[in-house]
Amino acid sequence: MTRQYSRADDLIHQFDTVLRTLVPKAAQPSRPSPATEDVQDEMLDDEQRRHAAGLMRINHTGEVCAQALYQGQGLTAKLPEVRGQMEEAAQEEVDHLAWCDARLQELDGRTSLLNPLFYAASFSIGAVAGAVGDRISLGFVAATEEQVGRHLDEHMEKLPPGDRRSRAVLRQMAIDEAHHAHQALEAGGARFPAPVKAGMTLMSKVMTKSVYRL
Ligand SMILES: [Fe+2]
Ligand SMILES: [Fe+2]
Repeated sequence: MTRQYSRADDLIHQFDTVLRTLVPKAAQPSRPSPATEDVQDEMLDDEQRRHAAGLMRINHTGEVCAQALYQGQGLTAKLPEVRGQMEEAAQEEVDHLAWCDARLQELDGRTSLLNPLFYAASFSIGAVAGAVGDRISLGFVAATEEQVGRHLDEHMEKLPPGDRRSRAVLRQMAIDEAHHAHQALEAGGARFPAPVKAGMTLMSKVMTKSVYRL
């Protein structure tokens, strides 16, 4: 038996996803974290743990933004051929979110207080891009994923050398994000011109600077 989803069902589902994204420990991963039992850190001192937590907080917020972007886009974009693919990517973002959250807890860190703000901003951008057209919205996904990939590479360098567990998480995320970027371009995403990408880089600088501490 199939069931027609009403507007109210949709709203409840959306609200549920918002809560799962913003409430710590609420995200349910579909794959276990790459920081498995046999990946162990070398000794980290307090300063190193604090620094690692700051970086992982940035990555967590990046995943909150990814969730919001996919959800905003899901609301307005048509994407008939690639909807299933986009949902799969969104599920992988839930994994990333949960893995970063779990790692933050191990480091005695907390998620960012600014997450609701970044969620709202990314959701709006996703919804607007989706309404403009599939080429733009897929292009936006590709550009965002490429940007996230650059951050991940940078963070793998910046993490304390002994922090093997965070690195294991970021390594798998980088593989997934590269795949998402590739899929979005393959599906017909526009390649954004340099000035647009520069604007996105500026936005991400604002995010990383504030979230490292807050
Ligand atoms: Fe991600
Ligand atoms: Fe992604």
